[in-house]
Order: sequence, then structure tokens, then C-alpha cells
Amino acid sequence: MERSSLISGFYKLNPKERLRLVKEFANLSQEECDLLQNTGSLPMSLADRMIENVVGVFPIPVGIAVNFLINGADYLVPMAIEEPSVVAAASYAAKMVRDGGGFHTSSTPPVMIGQIQTVSVKDPEAARQRVLEAKETILRKANEQDPVLVSAGGGAKNLDAKVIDTAAGPMLITELYVDCRDAMGANAVNTMAEAIASTVENLTGGHVYLRIISNLATKRLAQAQCVVPKESVGGEEVVDGIVYASAFAEADPYRAATHNKGAMNGIIAVILATGNDHRAIEAGAHAYAALKGQYTSLSKWEKTEKGDLRGSIELPMAVGLIGGAVRTHPIAKVAMKILGVRTANEFAEVLAAVGLAQNLAALRALAHEGIQRGHMSLHARNIAAAAGAPEDIVNLVAERMVKERKIRMDRAIELIKELSADES
Ligand code: MEV
Repeated sequence: MERSSLISGFYKLNPKERLRLVKEFANLSQEECDLLQNTGSLPMSLADRMIENVVGVFPIPVGIAVNFLINGADYLVPMAIEEPSVVAAASYAAKMVRDGGGFHTSSTPPVMIGQIQTVSVKDPEAARQRVLEAKETILRKANEQDPVLVSAGGGAKNLDAKVIDTAAGPMLITELYVDCRDAMGANAVNTMAEAIASTVENLTGGHVYLRIISNLATKRLAQAQCVVPKESVGGEEVVDGIVYASAFAEADPYRAATHNKGAMNGIIAVILATGNDHRAIEAGAHAYAALKGQYTSLSKWEKTEKGDLRGSIELPMAVGLIGGAVRTHPIAKVAMKILGVRTANEFAEVLAAVGLAQNLAALRALAHEGIQRGHMSLHARNIAAAAGAPEDIVNLVAERMVKERKIRMDRAIELIKELSADES
């Protein structure tokens, strides 16, 4: 029979029925189907309400990064991530930073930007003026959409408008600035942007197409900084190595991408564990890194007069404590309780600190001993497990492979045979 991915009404089926079709299409075994539907802490009924066409769930380890001292308060940081070493590295870096008094953080008010795109405007500059003059009317209409947010002290606070040249001609872009308080804000902002579209059309005589939040949240920034005593970081030479690494990333986009990836390893792991939108954070961070025209590093490391290491990071941080999966995913709720943050601002600042810690750990390893040694023992355990090592000899197999510097599947299989024979 011909296989076809054209399946009408797939969404109307329940997860079991959907999986039956997928099973046939992809020739899955019953065991593979059972793996997908072994839902653990996320009941299938809930998963099925969270997204469309659900057939199962995807578990990821949750680890806790320890040692974080931020603005004098202690935090345990839940991280959901598949990459070995990240949680250990964050904990290690937080310990070094603690020696220097911990992280100091700050953030701007939680303001998100909504964009309204107007095309076919006869005199864009005059239209821009009319939009600016109608600011109070537009803001009032926007705020009528969300009385709850307004009563919490948030809401549309301001707006701006700009004319941009594009391949499709000039466009007038109206930008609405919305204080989202403890929400990430996409729903509130998008609703407001849609509601004011007709007013903008009337004012400009143009045609509105897009009405959507911008993930380049330049008005919702989080900053973290720290000073690490040179003894804690491994001495003067390591401080110099990290400062050189920072300058390299600042100057070269190829290195900056990897440097920032290191910081995002930590941030995204917390975002995922807490059910926030990690694509929004990732998009915002990288766009912010390129805001001045050349993609560069989000963090900076320099040497203090005393020879210690000073680091800082700044990036957009559109996170919420309410809305979306944060309040529906059972694990996200527990993760939030562990983290214990009371406001979205506090949450954003903790995330900036985690990013700085993760970045520090990576740079220290790179400048000091190379990244591989630290990665190797966890990597070796994964290889040992994948090669089928029983639980009681996984560590033994991994240790032998690391010692021999042969972390490979074929060697793991040989060692499993050897060590199992020894045991019997
Ligand atoms: C690996 O996940 C992250 C690093 O590549 C980051 C960096 O190079 O700074 C180690």
C-alpha cells in the first residue's frame, strides 16, 4: 500500500488512534509506541490539550544547579537539558562567583513591544505624525482589552511610529509599548495590537497587515554581573585566558555564536524546566547580539585592578510567571516552586545570572584545560549505557574508556564483555 502523509482529520483522533496511524506509516514496534505513550508526569489528556496532533511526550532530564547567590539570596536552579556537563558547570561557576560575593543583577520594567505594520500609505511621514498625535486614543483602546493587566499596574504605556524602507516599498510601523507585569505578554500584546489596527488604518489611510509582538524585547532587559577572585578562577593565567576569550567573541561573530550558545545552554535549560517560551528567548538574545550591526557577544569579561575577573551580561528576557505552560505543566509548576522567584523581573535576573555563570564555566574550561576533559566522563557514561552496559558496571566502563582515551562504542562493547566475564 502507498504511504501518504496526507491524513485528513488527524487532529480529530485521540492520541492512541493517531499513534496507530503513525505506527503503520513508520513501521514502529509496539515497544516504540509504548515509549511514546509512557507519559509519566505529563498526563496524556493534558499533553493533548497543550498542542495539536499529540501522540506522546518527550522526557528530558531535570537537574538542579546549586551554589547560586544572587543579590544576597540563595537559589536552587532547576534545569531541563539533554546535554551532559551543563548543570555541573553552572554549579561550579556559581561556586566561584560566590567566593566574590555572588551575582548582582538588575532589570528594566517588563515592557514588550507590539508592532503594527501599515502599507500603501500615501504620505508615510504625515501618517506617522497623525499616529503619534492620536497616542492617548490608541493607548486607551489598547488598555480596554486587558483591564486585569491594567489593574495590576501594567498595560499599554506608550507608543512610537517609524517609517521603514523595504523591498516592498515604504511601510509605517507603529510600536506599542506594553508593561506585561508578571506575564510573558505575547497574548496581551497581540490582542492589543489587533484591537488598535482599525484605528491605525483610519489615521493613516493605509492597510494594516501584521499585528504582532516583537521578540527583540529591547525594553525588557536583564543584566547580571559578578567579580570572581583570581584564586577561585584558577590564577592569573586563567583570568587572562578568559579575558582573551571574551575579546575574541566580541570581535568575531563565528566565535560570538558559540560564546553565546554557552550562555544560552544555561538560560534555555531553566526556561524549558519552567515551561516558558525558549524560542522567544533564543530569538531575542541573538537579535540583541546583532543590534549594533555586527553580531557580537552578550557578555563581557575583564580584569579588575586587583587582577580578579569581572563579568557582565545583558540580554532581553521576556519571561512570565503566569500564562502558557508555566501554570499548566506539572513539572514547570514544581520547577517554579524550587526556583522561588516572586516576580517576572526577579526571574529574568536569575536567568541572566545563570547565563553569565554558564558562560564563565565554558570559558574557564576552554582557557584552562580545554572543554573535552570535563565533557568526557559524562560522555563516556552515555556511550557505556548506549552500548548496553548494565547499571552496576556503567561507571566502571566509562572510567576505563576515559583513562584509555578511547571513548567509543566498539571499546565500550569490548569492556562490557570483559568486565561482565570478570564478574561472573
Ligand atoms: C557547548 O555546549 C558550549 C561551548 O561551546 C560554549 C563556548 O564555547 O563558550 C563550550
